[in-house]
Amino acid sequence: MKGVVLAGGLGTRLHPLTKITNKHLLPVYNKPMIFYPIETLIKAGITDIMIVTGGNYAGDFLRLMGNGKEFGLKHINYTYQEGEGGIADALSLAEYFADGEPICVILGDNLIEKNIVRAVEKYRKQKDGAKIILKEVPDPERFGVAEIKKGKLLRIVEKPVKPESNLAVIGIYMYDSSVFDIIKTLKPSDRGELEITDVNNAYIRKGKMTWETLQGWWTDAGTFESLLRANVLVSQTGANNMD
Ligand code: DAU
Repeated sequence: MKGVVLAGGLGTRLHPLTKITNKHLLPVYNKPMIFYPIETLIKAGITDIMIVTGGNYAGDFLRLMGNGKEFGLKHINYTYQEGEGGIADALSLAEYFADGEPICVILGDNLIEKNIVRAVEKYRKQKDGAKIILKEVPDPERFGVAEIKKGKLLRIVEKPVKPESNLAVIGIYMYDSSVFDIIKTLKPSDRGELEITDVNNAYIRKGKMTWETLQGWWTDAGTFESLLRANVLVSQTGANNMD
């Protein structure tokens, strides 16, 4: 399985911090934000990785990470998203890299306390389709939210005003190669983006989506509040722990 880290977008919710750098290069405790999702993939045994970046400071990723030697990698692949067309638009740029293999996608501003080893192992045994990871949160209206009835995942609603559950869909997704055909059928949402939630709902409709719940904390880091929380959580427990 290959890995894709999505670090495009303009990070406007973090202005003025992101006026002179990319959001994913901002510090979270003692490392740049992007280091955490890369380590999440590596610790799950995924070492063939592409980073999708964008905006005005894409060159800084290369200066920071080069070919990935500091992570113990032989190589890192990079590509560039023009504009801010959404998470699914950024992912579409990884089609050539994926080359028909399944992929584990992680958002560049998502951090976890523990690891995704078990979820990845289970997905490797899954013949095809997709897998998402859910986490209980106090503020589900900020995320994609899972609607589950009698243990069955019915659909995901992106940032619902009245959430059906407190189970957020975290920014770590596993897909087979049909994900790129699904993305080609998508239309931009009201916020003008190709939504990853529409991709996930397409898999659910086909009966090809499985899900796991995450142990340990999860946070994004794309707002001032969540960036502060990410710093505090990492300083207290570290991230990507293997226990
Ligand atoms: O953090 C998990 C949530 O991420 C999910 O629960 C939601 O379903 C999903 O839509 C997403 O929500 P956000 O609205 O918070 O995503 P945001 O626009 O902040 O983008 C998250 C990351 O995705 C960002 O750090 C980099 C990448 N991205 C985003 C956009 C819009 C791109 O690479 N390109 C893009 O155009």
